[in-house]
Amino acid sequence: MFNTDINISEKFDLNKHIILYNGSCLDLLKQIPNKSIQLIVTSPPYNIGKEYEKKLDIDAYIKQQAEVIKESVRVLSDTGSICWQVGNYVNKGAIIPLDAILYPIFHNLNLVMRNRIVWHFEHGLHCSKIFSGRYETIIWFTKKNQRQIAL
Ligand SMILES: C[S@@+](CC[C@H](N)C(=O)[O-])C[C@H]1O[C@@H](n2cnc3c(N)ncnc32)[C@H](O)[C@@H]1O
Repeated sequence: MFNTDINISEKFDLNKHIILYNGSCLDLLKQIPNKSIQLIVTSPPYNIGKEYEKKLDIDAYIKQQAEVIKESVRVLSDTGSICWQVGNYVNKGAIIPLDAILYPIFHNLNLVMRNRIVWHFEHGLHCSKIFSGRYETIIWFTKKNQRQIAL
């Protein structure tokens, strides 16, 4: 049986259970009040030229991500968490770990990294001359060093 009490909205509304926004996350974030979100989990584009993204110069990519991160931090509650799931950006054979280049943005916004979760997978094309890239990471931040989170 379906629960027909679930409210779904196409624009941000604190009273709705689910928002399904078909557009840019930046436009959605702008609709969200300060400090109103408890958990943000995202896997943004990796700047590797997939069908949903335009491959940018790395500095332009970092600037674009910084805008989204800054807005995400604005809407995050003081006791909330942000989890940013990323892989590696590859440019002419050079591997650039996206979590490493995005970390300073969070740090400069006074966020504290609580964990760096590395997970691995086995699918995908195998490299023939180097070890295959078989992992991605989730970097988890909070606004301050919250003592209530048991480590
Ligand atoms: C790395 S993929 C994440 C895939 C997702 N983790 C999954 O398993 O389906 C990045 C996703 O971000 C979406 N995306 C790209 N630019 C966006 C934007 N400006 N706002 C919101 N989503 C965006 C893409 O359509 C794509 O689905």
